[in-house]
Amino acid sequence: MNAVNASAEPRLLKADARGLELAAQALRGGKLVAFPSETVYGLGGDATNDKTVARIYAAKGRPSFNPLIVHLPSVEAAEKFALFDERAYTLCEHFCPGALTLVLPRHPDNRLSLLVSAGLDSVAVRIPSHPIAQSLLKACDIPIAGPSANRSGAVSPTSAGHVLDGWPDPEMEGPAFVVDGGDCEVGVESTVIDLTTPRATLLRPGGVSLEDIDGLIGSVDIATHNDTSPKSPGMLSRHYSPNTPVFLNAKHARENGVFLGYGPNCNDPTCNLSESGNLSEAAANLFAMLRHLDTLNAASISVAPIPNNGLGLAINDRLQRAASR
Ligand code: TXA
Ligand code: MG
Repeated sequence: MNAVNASAEPRLLKADARGLELAAQALRGGKLVAFPSETVYGLGGDATNDKTVARIYAAKGRPSFNPLIVHLPSVEAAEKFALFDERAYTLCEHFCPGALTLVLPRHPDNRLSLLVSAGLDSVAVRIPSHPIAQSLLKACDIPIAGPSANRSGAVSPTSAGHVLDGWPDPEMEGPAFVVDGGDCEVGVESTVIDLTTPRATLLRPGGVSLEDIDGLIGSVDIATHNDTSPKSPGMLSRHYSPNTPVFLNAKHARENGVFLGYGPNCNDPTCNLSESGNLSEAAANLFAMLRHLDTLNAASISVAPIPNNGLGLAINDRLQRAASR
């Protein structure tokens, strides 16, 4: 979906040796570079450079209290910036590299910008598995702060075209380059687990399911959405929003509306997240289909019920935010 023409778009880089070197140079020089990961595209910048981190917040139009994820190529690299405990090592053994983000105490000698943690004494670290993200992190050899590469409040991008849609004018404060890695495989953001307290807390459901984590490190508390004092500011309920009003648990479209279906038995869906009822396929399609339906000038987007197990927890979380006004 959303194919882009590389020759007409100088900001778009192929993920070949030259493209990755240009991207790594730009990152080392303090510029912003959007890059593919297995979850969604990230808006990357040098996490040790205050000015660059400030530029990420500005480019996203992001409230400054919402801290950023720091991306590293390996646990060894991450240990320089965050304090790992046994639980962190256990989770990394099972899920890293992959769609898991751990919130850990900042290492006392870390070189990270304070702004990256938005004033908290913790830092969110992630080791992405996408081969292009891995190559880029190794090539630039710096920790990369990377929120999803969308303007704040918009739907996360799962293709290079989605990223460019967010900053249509090259004069806008946005990424200097977008590294094209095609469509993201997982399609929803990483699972965020807070390990700064004795009991682990799920701050954001995501690409690794709670069922897979629970039990490995004892039981995991689930943070509740609370708009006034969010533990993870990214949990603000209105976060992933198309412009068109979204209605959940629907059986069909409303008048002049469109219908986002799920499974084999839906009633004339405009798009179907997964005809076979596969939650991984639905997660991978979610943001691209919401973006597409949002371009149809429909009066509303009605969405079929999605089972709330496995990746369904993350899908329902994003849909509830999209529907909240
Ligand atoms: O899949 C992903 O996680 C993508 C890719 C690009 O890695 N990144 C992403 O980043 O979704 P972002 O910035 O959109 O979401 C980061 C989430 C937010 O909910 C934020 O509040 C939370 O992680 N977070 C970051 N640092 C935190 C910290 N120190 N304490 C608590 N929550 C934190
Ligand atoms: Mg985001």
